Amino acid sequence: MTETAKLIIDGKTYELPVITGLENEKAIDIRKLRAETGYITYDPGFGNTGSCQSAITFMDGENGILRYRGIPIEQLAEHSTFVETAYLLIHGSLPTREELTNIRVVLNDQSMVHEDMQEFFTNFPSRSHPMNILSAMVNALRSFYPELMTTEELIERTMLRLLSKVRTLAAVSYKISRGHKVVYPRPDYTYCQNFLNMMFDSPVNPYIPDDDLVNALNLFWILHADHEQNCSTAAVRVVGSGRVNIYASVSAGIAALWGPLHGGANQAVIVMLEEIQKNGGDINKAVAKAKDKNDPFRLMGFGHRVYKTYDPRAKIMKETCDKVLAKLKISDPLLDSARKLEEVALKDDYFIDHNLYPNVDFYSGIVLKAMGIPTNMFTVMFAIGRLPGWISQWKESMDDPHWRLSRPRQIYIGKAKGDYLPIDER
Ligand code: ACO
Repeated sequence: MTETAKLIIDGKTYELPVITGLENEKAIDIRKLRAETGYITYDPGFGNTGSCQSAITFMDGENGILRYRGIPIEQLAEHSTFVETAYLLIHGSLPTREELTNIRVVLNDQSMVHEDMQEFFTNFPSRSHPMNILSAMVNALRSFYPELMTTEELIERTMLRLLSKVRTLAAVSYKISRGHKVVYPRPDYTYCQNFLNMMFDSPVNPYIPDDDLVNALNLFWILHADHEQNCSTAAVRVVGSGRVNIYASVSAGIAALWGPLHGGANQAVIVMLEEIQKNGGDINKAVAKAKDKNDPFRLMGFGHRVYKTYDPRAKIMKETCDKVLAKLKISDPLLDSARKLEEVALKDDYFIDHNLYPNVDFYSGIVLKAMGIPTNMFTVMFAIGRLPGWISQWKESMDDPHWRLSRPRQIYIGKAKGDYLPIDER
């Protein structure tokens, strides 16, 4: 018998169907609620709202579990590459050797960007944030590739085009922001080697990608590749629900990711740690400030809407951070501050009571800094990593038999009906 939930309103009982997910997650199906009862639900921030059924990523925030297409993040971090993980997210299973070779060929073929796009870059004001530029450029891709995604083949090509070109666009934006010559992708380099090379190679200082840094980059991007219905992915789905093209949807995702409460937190963590150092390294002062209800300051890189325990990605990122810094023989005082801050916060009653643990952004900025990535590019790095997630979620939403235009309701609390007053009577 199908399970139902009972709702009593004004003495009348309504039976609402219950949906159970694969991992026994329960949801009350309220699709007919308004039609049958006249009521809507109120859930700011959508903390209790399931917006779709998805087969891509599973998260258990209470137990710190994250799986892409059923595979634990720890196993992917240990054995996979970013391109293989992207294939897994988009296609639902790991690629065979042949499939992996094919996708690499297409990524290579698609890696150049139209030369005219370079003109766009040079006309942005020099102080533009790279996330601003990236969001605009991804939207602009639609003008260069206007073909409709009418067949499976065209859909596949468009998804891979995005995956390949966004990486190139990011590196080009960095080079142009520095006034340096743009470096083109190389066919003999892997996805991650190519990115590092496009960022750091120069005619006077040839760059040889270091295997450990390439591995760290692969891992960084695998850890960011998807995170179910987070703010930016929800933005991609909401925008896509109007049946707009994938470039515009992903561009909206990039804009959403920019915020310091979401992907912008990796940059905000470094700013916070530098600020703590500037003020004499007083960790306790920063913790006290974060607890003060009259102060808007929060510990950046701490807390998560879903994880109420240590973010599994943060654990892996912390280990990578130690490895990368040891390999590069870097002793970064920011890492010492981060470790101390984590130690103090995890013992503090406020953070314990509020279930606030380090999230993926807490250590990732230190890893990126060690790789030589400038701070204002950190969130761009996150965006490249999140692309497979946005693409696979966009595709899933397009194929969803329960698809509907996203259009939440509201509870109006404004002025009651009033009359228009001619200008002289106001
Ligand atoms: N520092 C201090 N207090 C915090 C923090 C923090 N980092 N995060 C949450 N809290 C407190 C809030 O003040 C609130 O306290 P109260 O209940 O006593 O008023 C309580 O914890 C719940 O906070 P909410 O904002 O309601 O929690 P929500 O789930 O909406 O927020 C969020 C999650 C936005 C990530 C929040 O923890 C935060 O702002 N963290 C810092 C920014 C950050 O690191 N963002 C990256 C998240 S991971 C990602 O997107 C990739």
